[in-house]
This record gives sequence, structure tokens and C-alpha cells, in this order.
Amino acid sequence: MSSIRLNRLPKWLQTGLLIISVQTCSATSLYSNYHFNPLEHLGGVAPYFESQDPPASPSPPQGCTPVRAAYLNRHAAIYANDFDYEEYLEPFISKLKNHTKIDWAKIPTLNFLSGWTAPITEAEQELLTRVGRVEAAQLGATLSFRYPNLKIPAHVWTSSAERTYKSAESLVRGLETDDNGISVISIYESKKAGANSLTPYSSCPAYSSSAGSDQSGVFIKKFTAPIAARLNALAPEFNFTSNDIYGMMELCGYESVIRGSSPFCNLDLFSPDDWLGWEYAADIMYHYNVGYGNQVTGFVGLPWLNATANLLLGEHSDEDIYVSFTHRELPPMVTVAMGLFNNSAFGGSASAINDTMPLDRINYQRQWKSSYVLPFLGNLAIEKLNCSGTYGYDDGEYYRVLVNSAPQPLPDCADGPGTSCSRSGFEKYIQDRVDLFQGYSDKCSVDYDNSTDVLSIYTNLDSGNGTFVGKRSTHKPYKAF
Ligand SMILES: *[C@@H]1O[C@H](CO)[C@@H](O)[C@H](O)[C@H]1NC(C)=O
Ligand SMILES: *[C@@H]1O[C@H](CO)[C@@H](O)[C@H](O)[C@H]1NC(C)=O
Ligand SMILES: *[C@@H]1O[C@H](CO)[C@@H](O)[C@H](O)[C@H]1NC(C)=O
Ligand SMILES: *[C@@H]1O[C@H](CO)[C@@H](O)[C@H](O)[C@H]1NC(C)=O
Ligand SMILES: *[C@@H]1O[C@H](CO)[C@@H](O)[C@H](O)[C@H]1NC(C)=O
Ligand SMILES: *[C@@H]1O[C@H](CO)[C@@H](O)[C@H](O)[C@H]1NC(C)=O
Ligand SMILES: *[C@@H]1O[C@H](CO)[C@@H](O)[C@H](O)[C@H]1NC(C)=O
Ligand SMILES: *[C@@H]1O[C@H](CO)[C@@H](O)[C@H](O)[C@H]1NC(C)=O
Repeated sequence: MSSIRLNRLPKWLQTGLLIISVQTCSATSLYSNYHFNPLEHLGGVAPYFESQDPPASPSPPQGCTPVRAAYLNRHAAIYANDFDYEEYLEPFISKLKNHTKIDWAKIPTLNFLSGWTAPITEAEQELLTRVGRVEAAQLGATLSFRYPNLKIPAHVWTSSAERTYKSAESLVRGLETDDNGISVISIYESKKAGANSLTPYSSCPAYSSSAGSDQSGVFIKKFTAPIAARLNALAPEFNFTSNDIYGMMELCGYESVIRGSSPFCNLDLFSPDDWLGWEYAADIMYHYNVGYGNQVTGFVGLPWLNATANLLLGEHSDEDIYVSFTHRELPPMVTVAMGLFNNSAFGGSASAINDTMPLDRINYQRQWKSSYVLPFLGNLAIEKLNCSGTYGYDDGEYYRVLVNSAPQPLPDCADGPGTSCSRSGFEKYIQDRVDLFQGYSDKCSVDYDNSTDVLSIYTNLDSGNGTFVGKRSTHKPYKAF
């Protein structure tokens, strides 16, 4: 608007344009502060962001200093996983290529499709993007800012997939001060490792990677129907389907982490209500897959929680900061083992948990929001704090949990400053969680005979001390470049 020279136009038209410009701005000005960012509602394809929910300060409470910490991270941004690519992205992209007769340039909100090219090829699936590498390195630097008094770790642990391994390497580059200061230990993603890996769901036969797709499918059908009808009114020849809509919205996340932005994120194309539908469908899926709607998840998450709590509670430890990389499944499973984001926490019963995620409408008040837990590079931290001179609390050791830097209060463990809890409270809390969820092998119906219920990778380095990481990658270059 500002580039139009208003004073050159006739008076009547000037007034008209002013009214138009006021109207187009009114949704975001004057008394309304409403703003909406779809990138914060994209579940597992959300670029890294910090929800600040609850808005408690990430800084330690007054008088407290972190003396040890442990981080469990999802790998950073990738070029689409194989399932999403084959199920949603490739079919839409291929359909678009087939419909050469549609003149997209003339179709409102979809006109960008006339010049749009796909941001991803089959060969790039699963690889880290540039943004992914940069953000993982940034997390490394963030750890050094957050814990200036702690020793830089000697080791960083990662599951063995290329995207987790490269994420660990990138974090190390952002954290180490000199080359070869930190070595990366790769933990094989075995289907027979019992609980002793960073992918314990893979060795749990009772866990199914497709759990939740039936339930989320019900809601996907519901929320995409009016969107498909709207787009089909604009471009009937394309015959937009439910899967097309789902894939286009998913492209907002993937294209953003590949190219820095995406026309699919445009709120004129998909409204905030549309995005909230997409997000809720993802939350239903994660509820039944890695959340409270799946009977095994607490049992699969417990070994990491128990091992980590013991590393922090111990008098001595090899590392001041423990850092591990895994895939999207494990951090939410650990939150279940911890009792975080429980829709029933304040009222409601354990048996009614599935009722909190109805399939025919959105539960806007839910605690379970996957975008807040498992965006790319999503991370869960437990800190041990040394507190003294904290008015109203005894001097001593306290424990605190952060999810993507937002402090999370622990259920039944709230006797410290801020969201923290005392050492004795934390010990009792961990014992309660162990009592609830011990017995990984039984619950998983493990069908191989050398299983274990205990995660020991952090204390047992018998099988190797890992590989050093230089500032620059000198080995195998990315396939994509
Ligand atoms: C596009 O056309 C090709 C070749 O005709 C066909 O194999 C493919 O299934 C079509 N894709 C879609 C999504 O219609
Ligand atoms: C069990 O044995 C298999 C095959 O030798 C091995 O890959 C796996 O790591 C073992 N699991 C444990 C928990 O030691
Ligand atoms: C539109 O797509 C759906 C699902 O693939 C199909 O069942 C239907 O026949 C198609 N409609 C037209 C008019 O092509
Ligand atoms: C979730 O909250 C309910 C109600 O407080 C509780 O009974 C249940 O045990 C909690 N679930 C988990 C896994 O902690
Ligand atoms: C929730 O639903 C899942 C999948 O149907 C089921 O396995 C689980 O037992 C249900 N949870 C409760 C507490 O009823
Ligand atoms: C924690 O505080 C105690 C008591 O004030 C002190 O003795 C100890 O050295 C502190 N530990 C660290 C790691 O700073
Ligand atoms: C918890 O960790 C301790 C210390 O490593 C170990 O002795 C115990 O067996 C573990 N229990 C479970 C259920 O993982
Ligand atoms: C790893 O390092 C530790 C401590 O330096 C050492 O005790 C252990 O033997 C090493 N492991 C291997 C496989 O070299």
C-alpha cells in the first residue's frame, strides 16, 4: 500500500483506498493482539522453537547454580522422513506434475504453485538440512552459555542413524573449544538391545510404530474435509484429497527447514483453525503412539529416566553434562515415565486418559502438545542445582526439568524454589516412577533371550570411547551435495 502515491489519485479514490487499507490491517491492529505462527503447531515437522509453556524462567531459581545436567535430544531438522515422503509428499508432488493443464497463476491463494518446485528429492530423505546442522551447533553453544562453570563433556552419545549421528557431530562443533575435544559414541539401533540403547522402542516387540494412525486418521478425515471442499471449489480439476491437504500442510514445515520459508505456511491458504486441526491430528497420533494412550510407553521411557537420575544423584560422575541424541519417539516416552504433560494430572483418572483426546473435536485445553515436546532438535533436560541463600528454602541440592528450555513442574515433587524439588523429594519421586514402570522386558513381551531392563551405556564404556569430531567434516560428504 505504501508504494502507491495516494496524493496523485482522485479524492474519492483516495478515501476508498484508505478504507481498504484500514480494513486489511484491522485483524492485527488496534485492540487485537492476535497472531498465529503455523510453524509452532506442526508436531514432528515443527522447526525447533521454545514454547515457553509454562512461561517460568529458564534461568535457575535465585541462589541456585547448576552443578550437573543431562540432555536427551531429538535429531535436528531433516529433509522429510521416508514415511511422510512416500505417503504424503511424493504423491502430491507427482500429482502436481501430472496436472499441467491447470493455470495456477489465476487461482487465488494457490497461484504460487505455477512456479513452485519441490524442495526435496527421494535421495535427500532423512538427511539433515543446513538449518538442522546450524541449529544443533547452536544448541552446543547454548549449553556452554547455560553452564559456564561445568566441564565440557568428554563424550556425547547418539543412536547410530546418520541423522542422529550428524546432529551429535554438529552439537559437538558448537560446544568444543578445540578440535578433538569431545568424542561421539554411536549406540547401534539394535532390535535386540533390550533397554540398553537410545532406541529402546525398537527392541520392544509390544511397541508398534504405526500405533495411533487409525485414531488420528479419524480426525484427519474430519479436519481436512472442509479444506478440500474449499480448494476444490477453486481448482476442481485437481481433485484435492485428504492426503493432499495433509501433505501440503506438512510441506510448510519441511520446506521451511530446507529453504527458510514456505508458501504453504500462508494463512490465506490455511487458516489458524486449519493448522490447529493438523496439530490435533498429530497429537492424537502421538498420544496413542508414544504417549499416555499406549500402555508400554512409560516402561520404555523409564530406563533413561532411571539411569539419568542415578548419574545426577551420584556423588561423583564422569561428566558434568551428559548429552544424547535419539529419534522423536524417546523424549515423549520419557515424559510419560516422568508424568509430564498428563491430560488427567489435575483431576480425571488414569483409566479415562483416552477420553481426554476425543476423535471428533479438539481438546484445546490438553497438556499433551507434541509440537512443544518433539519439534526437530526437541530436548529434555534434568538439572542438578546447588542452592544456598534461597530465601524460604534450605541450602542444598535441588533438581529441575526443562523441556525445550521451559521449566516443567514434576508431579508430586514441588518442594524446592521455582519448579525444582529437593534431593529427598526427587529420590522418592524417582522411586515412585520406577515402581510404576519397571519391568521393560516383560511389558515389551521381549522374544529374544538376552534382554536387559537397565540402560548402562553411560557408565559402561567397554565397547568403545567413540570418535573425535573435527571442526569440519573431513570424511564422507553429504549425499545431497
Ligand atoms: C502421474 O502420472 C504418472 C504417469 O502417468 C502415473 O504413474 C502417476 O501415478 C501419476 N501420479 C498421480 C499422483 O496421479
Ligand atoms: C543380545 O544379543 C544380540 C546378538 O548377539 C546383540 O546384538 C544384543 O546387543 C544383545 N543384547 C543385549 C541386551 O546385550
Ligand atoms: C477424486 O479422488 C478420489 C480419491 O482418490 C477418488 O475416489 C475420486 O474418484 C476422484 N474424483 C474425481 C472427480 O476424479
Ligand atoms: C496421570 O494422572 C492421573 C491422575 O492424577 C494419574 O492417576 C495417572 O497415574 C497419571 N499417569 C501417569 C502415567 O503418570
Ligand atoms: C487407550 O487406548 C489404547 C488403544 O486402544 C489402549 O491400548 C489403552 O489400553 C487405552 N488406555 C486406557 C487407560 O484405557
Ligand atoms: C554445592 O554446595 C555445597 C554446600 O554449599 C558445596 O560444599 C559444594 O562444593 C557445592 N558443589 C558444587 C559442585 O559446586
Ligand atoms: C535403576 O538404576 C540403578 C542404578 O544404575 C540400577 O541398579 C537399577 O537396576 C535400575 N532400575 C531400573 C528399573 O532401571
Ligand atoms: C574407554 O576409556 C576408559 C577410560 O579412559 C577406559 O577405561 C576404557 O578401557 C576405554 N574403552 C575402550 C574400549 O577402549
